[in-house]
Amino acid sequence: MTALNHTTVMLSEAVDALLGAAVAGAGTYVDATYGRGGHSRLVLSRLAAQGRLIAFDKDLEAVADAQTIEDNRFSIRHQGFAELGKLPQASIAGVLMDLGVSSPQIDSPERGFSFRFDGPLDMRMDTTRGQSVAEWLALASVDQITEVIRDYGEERFAFPIAKAIVARRQERGPISSTSDLAGIVAGTVKTREPGKDPATRTFQAFRIFINAELEELEQALEASLEVLSPGGRLVVISFHSLEDRIVKQFIAKHSKEVYDRRRPFALPAIMKLKAIERVRPSDAEVAANPRSRSAIMRVAERMEETV
Ligand SMILES: C[S@@+](CC[C@H](N)C(=O)[O-])C[C@H]1O[C@@H](n2cnc3c(N)ncnc32)[C@H](O)[C@@H]1O
Repeated sequence: MTALNHTTVMLSEAVDALLGAAVAGAGTYVDATYGRGGHSRLVLSRLAAQGRLIAFDKDLEAVADAQTIEDNRFSIRHQGFAELGKLPQASIAGVLMDLGVSSPQIDSPERGFSFRFDGPLDMRMDTTRGQSVAEWLALASVDQITEVIRDYGEERFAFPIAKAIVARRQERGPISSTSDLAGIVAGTVKTREPGKDPATRTFQAFRIFINAELEELEQALEASLEVLSPGGRLVVISFHSLEDRIVKQFIAKHSKEVYDRRRPFALPAIMKLKAIERVRPSDAEVAANPRSRSAIMRVAERMEETV
């Protein structure tokens, strides 16, 4: 296992928001993205003796780290976080999601997440299932690759990059390493965004796609509505606009009273959430941990369903 650290983003802000006004953390909480347990450990330090913390992570190294926590209020599940929907209905006092990848994942060349290191082109958070980026790229068409780079990377040069990937595959065989991919992208993207490697958007796109990140986020948000008890908190930290848009629209959709125009005298649909706040990391945190700079934390509270 690679001994790399993860600096937790918005540590106290997220845990304060998760525990909210709860009586000394006596309920059951979910840390949907354990990582290296920064948020989990602080939650545990504030949890009452009868409280519980259930953590999820898809990554085996994260799960191994969690197994070092000796605390019978804590348990870890090696599952995608959409599985939190299988918890008993209205049984959870708070759900925290700190989205994306951890620093140990990005900084381990053998995981293939980064264009900064040469490694196998994998990018799976859960290496026990699914296909790697290399396996997908070996068979994907120009259209499929273009769509992924455009939709998940918001990359202007999606089509030329996809064409270059397929041409290179036909000429010299499969693209199997991060440096192969970074080289192909660098040879195609001619105008550089200041401070950004030309491969940034393409790597982001492939990572989101191969891990079905946005689909799982949508499923987990819907699932959280079922499992949160009234007054329970939903706290989500996202790191790019595609994620944040999903979280923002989800909270907005469920925190509105919706009237049916065809039935003007009917009662409005039930409001399931109350938006509480949107928080950015402090200047001091961004200075100390540049990876926090794009973070946006949104907090909402589950409402009692009374009409
Ligand atoms: C940003 S890190 C979390 C860091 C953690 N809060 C800490 O302080 O150490 C995100 C973690 O969530 C995991 N993850 C991302 N998407 C997931 C999903 N859909 N299901 C389960 N785990 C996921 C990743 O494997 C990674 O370990």
